[in-house]
Formats: sequence, C-alpha cells, structure tokens
Amino acid sequence: MTVSASKFYSSGTDATDVALESAFFAKLKMRNGTFKLTQPSRFRELEVAFRPYIEKRANALCELLDVGVSTGLTTVELARFLKDCGAAASIVATDLFIEAHIVELAPGFRVFCDPEGWPLQYDVRGITVRPWVRRLDYVTLAFIPLMIGRSVLQPRLHLRIRAGMSKPVQMITRSLPADGEIVFVENDIMLRSERFIRRFDMVRAANILNTGYFSPDQIHIAIENIHSYLRGPGALLMIARTNRARENAGTLFELNRDGSFAVLERVGGGSEIERLVLDFRAPAIADG
Ligand SMILES: C[S@@+](CC[C@H](N)C(=O)[O-])C[C@H]1O[C@@H](n2cnc3c(N)ncnc32)[C@H](O)[C@@H]1O
Repeated sequence: MTVSASKFYSSGTDATDVALESAFFAKLKMRNGTFKLTQPSRFRELEVAFRPYIEKRANALCELLDVGVSTGLTTVELARFLKDCGAAASIVATDLFIEAHIVELAPGFRVFCDPEGWPLQYDVRGITVRPWVRRLDYVTLAFIPLMIGRSVLQPRLHLRIRAGMSKPVQMITRSLPADGEIVFVENDIMLRSERFIRRFDMVRAANILNTGYFSPDQIHIAIENIHSYLRGPGALLMIARTNRARENAGTLFELNRDGSFAVLERVGGGSEIERLVLDFRAPAIADG
C-alpha cells in the first residue's frame, strides 16, 4: 500500500529507504500530467565515460545547474560523482514542481497538494486514494467522483494554503548531503531566469529535453536559456536520456570561444538532441 504524505514527511518512516521514497513520489501525478519519476544509479556508464573530462576540469567546476531533477535523487549522485572527481561544486537543482502542502480539510481527511491546491494524494484515516484519473476509470465511471472531487477541493485547498493553514513540504529526496551543497529551486527551463545568467560552470539536463515530450522549437528555447546560464568558454553541458532498458544515450559538450558547442564525448550513440545543440548559435546581442 502507498504510504501517505503525512507519514512520509513524519519521522515514522526510514529516511534512508530509497525504494520507499521512489515508490511514494512515483505515484504523484503533477498538474502537467507528469509523474515524479527518477531512479537511483541510472547514469553509471555516463560517469565512467565522462569522468576523465570532469577530472581534468575539476578545479574550474564550482557552480552547477541540474535541470529537471524530479526529486533530486540523481542530483545527489552527481554531487557524489563530482566530489569523487575532485570538484568542490555547489549545485542548483531545478524542477517545475518542488513545493507542496499537506492540508487537513476535516478530521481524518488530509490532502497532499501543490501550492495551487492541485491534489496529489488523498489520505482518509491513513488510507491513500489517488486523485488522478486513469483510463480504466472511464470504464468504471470512477472518473466522475475523482473529477468532481478535484474541482470542488482545489479552490478550498488553495485558500487554506494562502491562509497558512497547511504544512509546507518539498518533494525532494531525503538522501541529501548535510553540507547544503545542493539547493532546490522551482524553475521552468523554458523561461529565462536573470539570476542564472552566466553563473554556471556546467549544466546537466537529464531525461528532460526529450524529443517525444518537447517540440524542436521548445528544445531550441531551452538550449538558448541553458547557453545563457553557462559562465563562458570551457563550460560544460551534459545531456542524457535513459531508455526503458535503463540504457543511456548522452553527450558531453564544451562551450567554444565563439559561443557554439563542441562534442567532448558520447555514450550510447550520443544525445538525441545533439544536432540541435551543435547547430545552435547564440543570438547576437543588440548594441545599446
Ligand atoms: C523524468 S524526470 C528526470 C529526473 C532526473 N533528471 C533523472 O534523470 O532522473 C523529468 C523532470 O523534468 C521536470 N520538468 C518538466 N518540464 C520542465 C520544465 N519546463 N522546466 C523544469 N523542469 C521540468 C519534470 O517535472 C520532471 O520532474
């Protein structure tokens, strides 16, 4: 049975149990229809292949951006890998959905939801119920109470959150290193963030800029934003995707002096968006 958010965020569960943590987050369907999916140790072969390049640049890797991190489980592994390579880097980990709330609407009835009141999990006296609709629900008509429930509850949940009548939590892994080297920030890679401009020595985008999910135009916008977030020539960009067989295809790029990207190394034939990255040219900055 799925553990409830109240229990998960209490001291009653084993914070080192990564399987329980992944199972809890994997059942949460976000407002945009995606699930909080990630898996431990998914990038081993990338680490092996990219290691010499990271080790060579270890002293220059101070600030990193990890885009679309889900719960940040693989960000923790990235931090470990960097340390192992001799880099003392701090990491900004971003995702569209990080903040969440537990709201008690009635005695014995709690809802785990996002800051807009979008329900992620119902908890009726410890028994969890998913708020999202799956295909079978259209056959059994279970979609009717689920959809009515959501539209009735969302505004009430939002009001309670705004009134401070909720327990705020973050949908992030509990296996974070204690030294605070990873900072989580809610951020959309499709929207330019001024505070990230020319800040990072390396950016990683793993299992996010997929051609099946984003259009080439959207991927181009993301590359443009990532490009603007890189500190300058010599900065690194790692793009990867894991397939169903848990094999990775990824490319490690370096930023050239002229603002274009060059391939340093490939795994599994390289990233599916490698051509889009190599063809990218930064727009000229207009003279003031
Ligand atoms: C499949 S997970 C990848 C997690 C992790 N990087 C990994 O490879 O295990 C993709 C994540 O990207 C996030 N995401 C989707 N669109 C995004 C966007 N426009 N900006 C930032 N994050 C986004 C989703 O919320 C989701 O958590």
